[in-house]
Amino acid sequence: MLILNAQKITKAFGVAPLFRDISFTVDEGDRIGLIGPNGSGKSTLLKILAGQLDTDSGEVAARKLTRLSYVEQDSNFAAGETVRSIIQTALKRAGVPETEWEARLREMLGRAGFADFDTEAVTFSGGWRKRLAIVEALVQKPDVLLLDEPTNHLDLAGI
Ligand SMILES: Nc1ncnc2c1ncn2[C@@H]1O[C@H](COP(=O)(O)OP(=O)(O)OP(=O)(O)O)[C@@H](O)[C@H]1O
Ligand SMILES: [Mg+2]
Repeated sequence: MLILNAQKITKAFGVAPLFRDISFTVDEGDRIGLIGPNGSGKSTLLKILAGQLDTDSGEVAARKLTRLSYVEQDSNFAAGETVRSIIQTALKRAGVPETEWEARLREMLGRAGFADFDTEAVTFSGGWRKRLAIVEALVQKPDVLLLDEPTNHLDLAGI
């Protein structure tokens, strides 16, 4: 079953396009790896799929009611946001009833190794910020999970 459909998408920041007229589909159950040198446009393509960046031409269509989570290459959080507030916001966004928040949050954060949910995310190391961003994406139980270099900063156990 088709979830995402990219048709003839082109994107350029300068004169030479990063990619031109590329088309592909993402089907249910697919696990797709995107490989390319630094600066070749991998993050740009993921941002387009996540709806955070427009194409110059071409279209990306998602199946109706598709829930999509996107973990950016760099995981940064605003000052004052705690582990709990970040995950609660994600659960709210996903439409999870508030009565289920605490259980969902404890389960996923526990599995990812978080013990104190009141810590401010800005104080975390790169690896712990990445872990938190992955939990933030996963608690929304997305149909499509876009991960931009998810293993960067992670130790072996984290990977
Ligand atoms: N907002 C922007 N404005 C101008 N140029 C940009 C912008 N975003 C990306 N670029 C340029 O587009 C090119 C592709 O960047 P992108 O981050 O997509 O590459 P990447 O394949 O993810 O690289 P890396 O492996 O280093 O993460 C780079 O040359 C980058 O400088
Ligand atoms: Mg990148």
